[in-house]
Amino acid sequence: MTTLLKNGHIVDSKNNREGVFDILVEGRFISTVAKDISVPADKVVDCSGLTVIPGICDMHVHLRDPGQTHKEDFVTAGEAAVAGGVTAVMCMPNTVPPTDTPERVRDIIRRSETSKVKIYPCAAITVGQNGLELCDFEAMKQAGAVAVSDDGKPVENARLMMEAMIRARLAGLKIISHCEDTDISGDGIMNEGAVSAKLGVSGISRTSENIMTMREICLANDLKAHIHIAHVSTKEAIKYINMAVNLGIMVTCETAPHYFTLTDEELLKRDADYRMNPPLRVFDDVLEITKALCNDMFDCIASDHAPHTEREKADFETAPFGVVGLETLLPVTLTRLYHTGKLPVSKIVRMMCVNPRRILGMGGGGLEPGSPADIAVFDLNENWTLNPDKLRSKSKNTCFKGMKLKGRVKYTLVNGAIVYEDK
Ligand code: DOR
Ligand code: ZN
Repeated sequence: MTTLLKNGHIVDSKNNREGVFDILVEGRFISTVAKDISVPADKVVDCSGLTVIPGICDMHVHLRDPGQTHKEDFVTAGEAAVAGGVTAVMCMPNTVPPTDTPERVRDIIRRSETSKVKIYPCAAITVGQNGLELCDFEAMKQAGAVAVSDDGKPVENARLMMEAMIRARLAGLKIISHCEDTDISGDGIMNEGAVSAKLGVSGISRTSENIMTMREICLANDLKAHIHIAHVSTKEAIKYINMAVNLGIMVTCETAPHYFTLTDEELLKRDADYRMNPPLRVFDDVLEITKALCNDMFDCIASDHAPHTEREKADFETAPFGVVGLETLLPVTLTRLYHTGKLPVSKIVRMMCVNPRRILGMGGGGLEPGSPADIAVFDLNENWTLNPDKLRSKSKNTCFKGMKLKGRVKYTLVNGAIVYEDK
């Protein structure tokens, strides 16, 4: 099977190539990238006026499979991912049971064959994510884990995290840290501030995230180890990370679209679809995170896709944390960062396609001949409004409901096959 993508505006940040080119896909791979390719192909896709990028790698996704497939499963997550231009995801280990053994890593890899998206498991740091005993990193790496994390929770015990950093380095695995001091965050349900006070609900102090970010930086420095900080939401955390990077400490980090788009004012609606952990912060944080994105202080943008059903999200105060994000990752980022003139597409491609794969050691993320044909094609200028009912994800808990978006995915290819077409 050959597919010819004609006349798309290619943004291939990995290979520093941008411009109008044709891409010839033969079987599972890109075979040629050139101007005016004129060979017969089984399928020709007219990409004039469209932007062509490597498929997105979303490195922070809660897939819910096994154990909570009423929220999401490999098939629905795959449909959602490719509708968002995402061709690879790293799935977090807080499933039921958690991904804490090589057998469970292998089980995910085996069963993920049913999905349209490529699924890379992140294994747990501690057995049962209980924060007490380390998992067998070497064996989980052998089984195919690409990183370790107790995401959903922090590793509270600093001594254990030290040990984890040492063992992860030996195993050749990156650690992804969910930065939260749960003694500080306690039973908070949203950002602690004027809005939580007004609503009369308990808040999550920004100090909870900041102090744990500092601890991880301190450990990474002392051990000469790497740490990846997940879902940065405060202006202080980004300042500390930037300081660490300038000191040569091996820290990388990510943020998610909701942190550079929304504030805790949304919570005045008392709608749990705006509750996630870490929580939406205040305008100053949105401003500083946006500035940091413009100044190349973030390595990655990831969705933190965390599906929960309508029923689970019904009560504002007791609903679980989390929002879906696979289908809005690219459109919201284009709307907020590209169409406001803050970032060129090439930098967005770097943060969504190139850096996550580099950090996780996956390969790919470029459009050079010989690479797997994982490609997203989008209309940079198409206007649309997000209707939660239209989401492919099994859960509809989006914090972008009703948002006017500019930029829409038209085609997605995985291993050379067109797995999504916007009709
Ligand atoms: O909002 C969140 N949802 N934050 C987390 O850390 C966990 C996630 C989930 O699994 O629902
Ligand atoms: Zn987390």
